[in-house]
Amino acid sequence: MTIDAQILAALRNGKNCSVSGAELAIQFQLSRAAIWARIEELRSLGYEIEASPHEGYRLNKSPDLLHSDDLLARLGDSQKIGRDIRVFQETTSTNDVVERLARDGIAEGVVVFAESQTKGRGRLGRRWVSPSGKGLWFSILLRPTLSPQFITQITVASAVSLRRAIKQITGLTPEIKWPNDLLLNGLKIAGILTELSAEPDMIKHVILGIGVDVNLTSEDLPKELEGVATSLRIVTGRRLDRSGLAVQFLQQFERDYALLHSGRFEELADEWAEACSTLGKIVTIQTPGRLLQGRVEALDQDGALLLRTEFGRLERVLAGIVQSHPI
Ligand code: BTN
Repeated sequence: MTIDAQILAALRNGKNCSVSGAELAIQFQLSRAAIWARIEELRSLGYEIEASPHEGYRLNKSPDLLHSDDLLARLGDSQKIGRDIRVFQETTSTNDVVERLARDGIAEGVVVFAESQTKGRGRLGRRWVSPSGKGLWFSILLRPTLSPQFITQITVASAVSLRRAIKQITGLTPEIKWPNDLLLNGLKIAGILTELSAEPDMIKHVILGIGVDVNLTSEDLPKELEGVATSLRIVTGRRLDRSGLAVQFLQQFERDYALLHSGRFEELADEWAEACSTLGKIVTIQTPGRLLQGRVEALDQDGALLLRTEFGRLERVLAGIVQSHPI
């Protein structure tokens, strides 16, 4: 952790109490003047830090921005997910950035956030609207020891982690639309784009790209998304702490990713099934090659959807666009 991350962690641990400059200086083996300089730097970023000569420093308010040191400080000890966090003001797509890091051999768990994306992408080549400072647009590099057929398990794990994180921060419980959409009141608030680089029986790496519409207003959403998407701010009527939500997700996903590796996907699958609005529904699924129709019966062991088709056959579907019909 950088000194700034450690100072922020110490101030946050102090809760509403002040932390003395002398203590910080001893703890980080710096002069009091050097601590003061770091505090001034954090203030220039918008952190409201009160300084009193007798009591020390107190963090009163954090700015609405993603700051890698602050994210690291709030995340605390993470084994894997978020050991390395990088924040860009603007990029094409955070998935592109992570792809380059993957090719450079960076260890798994690195998380790349962008305040805005100029070429944010969704599944099936769709565009993903990513206005500056309004959402969480981020990607995680994973190097799982799973065979490629289990890739959907990662999407399922991330969907349940994200649902839990949103519940924790907002008190609302999104439904999951297979495989990767989170909805509130039937409108999309988050999507997951999992990109895979693999050999026939071995995954090289996975890029888990997640977009959450946090503080977008209805003006931020383009016309084409009217009646399709919404944001947590629109639903709750309040601005939310993006960085708090990000940290909550990373903590949840750290746990769920470890569960996957210890062969406990079933626990996640049960939670997913409870949240999944697609289960039991009559649907049409446009898969890359075919149009299928039927009732969704279950989730398979590897995260695939089991569809009882109109002809009575059980089909396994790994990818596609799902449209539900009234039963
Ligand atoms: C979908 O629902 O179609 C998936 C949307 C995924 C969007 C995220 S935003 C961060 C990452 N970078 C991208 O370009 N896409 C994903």
